[in-house]
Amino acid sequence: MMSPALKSRCCQRVLVQLSAVVLLMLAAPAVLASDAQLLTYGVGRVPTPEEIAAWDLTIPPDGEGLPAGSGTAVLGKSIYSERCASCHGDDGKDPKYYVLVGGRGTLTTAKPLVTVGSFWQYATTLWSYMRRSKPIDEPGSFNADQVYAVTAYLLFLNDIIGEHDVLDATTLVQIKMPNRDGYVPDPRPDVENASAGVNQ
Ligand code: HEC
Repeated sequence: MMSPALKSRCCQRVLVQLSAVVLLMLAAPAVLASDAQLLTYGVGRVPTPEEIAAWDLTIPPDGEGLPAGSGTAVLGKSIYSERCASCHGDDGKDPKYYVLVGGRGTLTTAKPLVTVGSFWQYATTLWSYMRRSKPIDEPGSFNADQVYAVTAYLLFLNDIIGEHDVLDATTLVQIKMPNRDGYVPDPRPDVENASAGVNQ
């Protein structure tokens, strides 16, 4: 058991720490208002435009910023066998692995199967995810052609494009994913639909 004296010392410490936080919070806007220049902490530096470009890899649904380059499922297949099949299976369908193919029409059933074909809303998002996150052991290391090719292969496996269809900045945007219209705003009245229009 904690003695009352010890307990009150603990509480005092907590109180002192809390007041410090409150003071900081009160002080911050004043500093901001008086002179933004004062807010330098002597650490870090402004990133260069090149560094920002290297991190700024997200492609929005409308495909803005997609780079030049192209690929087909035929080319994507060899990348997939080498860099993906060990975790996703040879054709992305085997339930022993993390499934990427099939499941179309199951989302509203008792056993929904979430895959690229059944769930993803935009092919551009898949492209963006491939570029940023894959291969999993070396994220971001694919060049644009490889990203187009591996994306094409996943879309081909899901019967969304043909094996020889060329994916590039123009054709990728034209693909209508099977679940494009399956997303609805959250109907709960207490949830503001903050993202309306952003991710549509
Ligand atoms: C070492 C195992 C591993 C490898 C190799 C791998 N993945 Fe994955 N992948 C995962 C795991 C685990 C997840 C789920 C977690 C996550 O999103 O990171 C995932 C998620 C995905 C998803 C999202 C699925 C969804 O519907 O949410 C796609 C698409 C995908 N991987 C494609 C690929 C492709 C294409 C490659 C090869 C370029 C690849 N993966 C290589 C393990 C792997």
